Amino acid sequence: MPERSVGSRPRRGDDADVRELPFTADALLAPMEGVTDPAFRTVMLALHEPRHLGGSTTEFVRVVDHAVPRHILRDALGPVLSPIPVGLQLMGNDAAALAASAARVEETGARFIDLNFGCPAKGTLAGCAGAALLKDPAALEKLVAAVRAAANRLPVCAKIRAGFEHARDVEVLARAAEAGGADLLTVHCRTRAEGYSDTVDWTRIARAVAAVHIPVCGNGGVLLHTDIARMRAETGCRYVMIGRAALANPWIFSGHKATRREAFAFVERYMAVMQERSAVARQHYSGRIKQILSYLHADFLPQEERALLLHEGDIENLAGLIAAAARG
Ligand SMILES: Cc1cc2nc3c(=O)[nH]c(=O)nc-3n(C[C@H](O)[C@H](O)[C@H](O)COP(=O)(O)O)c2cc1C
Repeated sequence: MPERSVGSRPRRGDDADVRELPFTADALLAPMEGVTDPAFRTVMLALHEPRHLGGSTTEFVRVVDHAVPRHILRDALGPVLSPIPVGLQLMGNDAAALAASAARVEETGARFIDLNFGCPAKGTLAGCAGAALLKDPAALEKLVAAVRAAANRLPVCAKIRAGFEHARDVEVLARAAEAGGADLLTVHCRTRAEGYSDTVDWTRIARAVAAVHIPVCGNGGVLLHTDIARMRAETGCRYVMIGRAALANPWIFSGHKATRREAFAFVERYMAVMQERSAVARQHYSGRIKQILSYLHADFLPQEERALLLHEGDIENLAGLIAAAARG
């Protein structure tokens, strides 16, 4: 078991084995289902030096009542091409199935396991997974413990929201994740009830930081490169996770001021990687591409032009328009 150097991180207890987190920088790319697929991550990770983008996570892999087949885990991760570490996210509420799946993650090349306790989708909640676990900290703790015990050498991260209906118990949730043995706690500061609202309250992240000894990753509402340092300063969190703002501006991690041509070259490259790998059926390319275009910052893509691209029904025409923009 790799031991962290003394003093670099508070220990849970004398007999707690501490697993080194693999991140290469403070800013991490958030998992986003339907967006951060292997092709997208390949392009995003290639764009950055490890000192700017510290890690990323797969889209969630749903775990029901048995170990997820190895090929599904491998497909979720995709090829490992970058020194920037990628974690595999699991979501479920069956401890045995989560543990059996976690035991298979290391062989995929993923560098950590992430547990999803934040998904607000109706289907997920009906299955009592994702954010539903925020209502039951004891169950959350047991799931983290089961995965931790099965994870071999991999660190285990727990990603929570600040609460289900309210954020009054964020400390309780944070401590449950820590007691279960999480090596990192990610706090998306919105509650399940708040969905993806524009307003965020970072004091909830600060409260989680104060409640636990393990490192905390703050998440929610980071819009600018300068917000990375601001969130760390205001909350005391060790890491900062960025979701939609990284889709609006893929260079948010480094602060590089990209041009419109660079932004379109990014989209073009994403399309090319999807095609090379036949990762997504050709009829779905345009959906994926349009999703990225819909998030792209207005500095790169003004409103009228965006509407034009989003209405383009022919994939070849769309590819042509993107290629033309990438060449200026
Ligand atoms: C389209 C989309 C898909 C998401 N999928 C996941 C997911 O698979 N797993 C997860 O833990 N969070 C998921 N999230 C939540 C994000 O990881 C992140 O917590 C959230 O977007 C808040 O960060 P932001 O304000 O920087 O966008 C998703 C968010 C979006 C917008």
